[in-house]
Amino acid sequence: MDTAQFISKSSIKSIEKASFTWQTPSNIALVKYWGKSNPQIPKNASISFTLNNCHTITTIDFQRKSNADRVSETGKLVDFDLFFEGKRKEEFKPKIAEFFTRIQEYCPFVFGYKMTIHSENSFPHSSGIASSASGLSAIAMCLMSLEFKLNSELSQEFINKKASFLARLGSGSASRSIEGPLVVWGKHSEIEGSSDLFGVPFPYKIHSVFNKYQDVILLVDKGEKQVSSTVGHNLMHNHPYAETRFKQANENVTKLSKILQNGNLKAFVNLVESEALTLHAMMLTSNPYFILMKPNTLEIINKIWEYRLENNSNICFTLDAGANVHVLFPEEEKENVCQFIENQLAKYCQKNHYICDTVSFGATKL
Ligand code: PMV
Repeated sequence: MDTAQFISKSSIKSIEKASFTWQTPSNIALVKYWGKSNPQIPKNASISFTLNNCHTITTIDFQRKSNADRVSETGKLVDFDLFFEGKRKEEFKPKIAEFFTRIQEYCPFVFGYKMTIHSENSFPHSSGIASSASGLSAIAMCLMSLEFKLNSELSQEFINKKASFLARLGSGSASRSIEGPLVVWGKHSEIEGSSDLFGVPFPYKIHSVFNKYQDVILLVDKGEKQVSSTVGHNLMHNHPYAETRFKQANENVTKLSKILQNGNLKAFVNLVESEALTLHAMMLTSNPYFILMKPNTLEIINKIWEYRLENNSNICFTLDAGANVHVLFPEEEKENVCQFIENQLAKYCQKNHYICDTVSFGATKL
């Protein structure tokens, strides 16, 4: 795999001080990634909708260190302070430090700077919405802004590609949080330009029915997950159904690619719900086994099925690695479905909380 392309060239310019702010979104997978090999290489291709309202805003202030040349030797620790929602957060630092270690080969310039990172999420912390995708993609974009300042020959296309590559090394699904409205991550024979190393925007014309597709996230359980996705991915190593699942996911990418182009919503609903339930079936059949859905997750799923039948609707659900339910539907159904959610589904959410979101276009520089 061609990772050498991502090793930054020695900088042409010398920059003393810089500051960049990026807003990057969360994403929701339609065909799921579950199972990987080192270093963060997915076992199958996945496709996600890029979200809009669920995002992270991150500013990184870079201050060049006086002994910059000497600290650029590998093996040194990257020097940074981290503030989350205005408060210093020591407990978040190890994960970010680990991320910097993983990317040091590709961004050696970070050793030359002291970084101060300020980050905030648009969604409540511990809402059960994974912040790793938006959080790591925001840091990756700030690093790429500095790299661009150091070497202005980089193209926008390369910047996005490398940002996705870097974000992936922090959290696999973060590779799909740079662009939009649909991103494919993982090499797939029928998706031109796809790669295991970074996400690419879905390369074919998307049917207009998917414009401004809606995602209402029902916050069933805001608590910390009992099983982290790292542990979950690892349990796919000796999983009896793993190979069949990886094959099925790749076939589903082929099917979904056609659906996204022809706008067949009935087929979309069927495929997306099947993917969500299969992801959780992999958890149920892991050893040790685990369940991330809660009773209210199932209550909501049944209500969605009832509503769909009674109203000839194209509403459907998908699930992340957690109990929350993402309710997906076309924009033209917005009024009716939002009423249904408020009247019949909100009561299954913790404190009646849910977040209305829309499919969107990815990272924005502020
Ligand atoms: O990016 P990770 O390691 O947190 O894994 C995410 C896995 C799922 O959210 C369950 C599926 C996906 O493709 O996003």
